[in-house]
Amino acid sequence: MFKLAVLERLLYRSKATNTLGSLHLFNMLSEARAKNARLGITGHLLYTEEVFVQCIEGIPEAVESLWKSLQRDHRHFDLEVLARDRIDTRRFADWSMAFSSYPSLNRFNMPGFFAVEKEGMNAEAERCAQVEA
Ligand SMILES: Cc1cc2nc3c(=O)[nH]c(=O)nc-3n(C[C@H](O)[C@H](O)[C@H](O)COP(=O)(O)O)c2cc1C
Repeated sequence: MFKLAVLERLLYRSKATNTLGSLHLFNMLSEARAKNARLGITGHLLYTEEVFVQCIEGIPEAVESLWKSLQRDHRHFDLEVLARDRIDTRRFADWSMAFSSYPSLNRFNMPGFFAVEKEGMNAEAERCAQVEA
């Protein structure tokens, strides 16, 4: 019998310190994805220009290590944990960090970018922040 790896999902919301442009986001995502791939982290980041909502999932040690880094990062503040749970399966298994934001912030055609129009953003941010059992 194989022992299944214990997995954890951490969902948080934070406030962006500055408004980020396409290039900054592209660089941040590229670095994050490279590190996530090393740590076996998958997830999703939503950016509304004011607020981030991020879901990170992986083995607990990796999630905790990334969480420590995130808490030290001055690009956001007021980090608020919305949920932190053991999980059986990953919700974002295919993404080292999927990213949702306004179409105008995808000047560099990032893979794993999901466009959200301005009118739909508040609802989308609410949806991402919902804690699913
Ligand atoms: C909103 C936001 C989301 C981030 N997401 C990730 C991520 O998914 N993975 C990652 O490695 N770094 C991410 N970062 C960057 C980390 O905060 C940190 O700078 C990076 O992991 C390097 O950390 P270290 O210097 O402790 O190694 C994110 C930063 C911000 C502001």
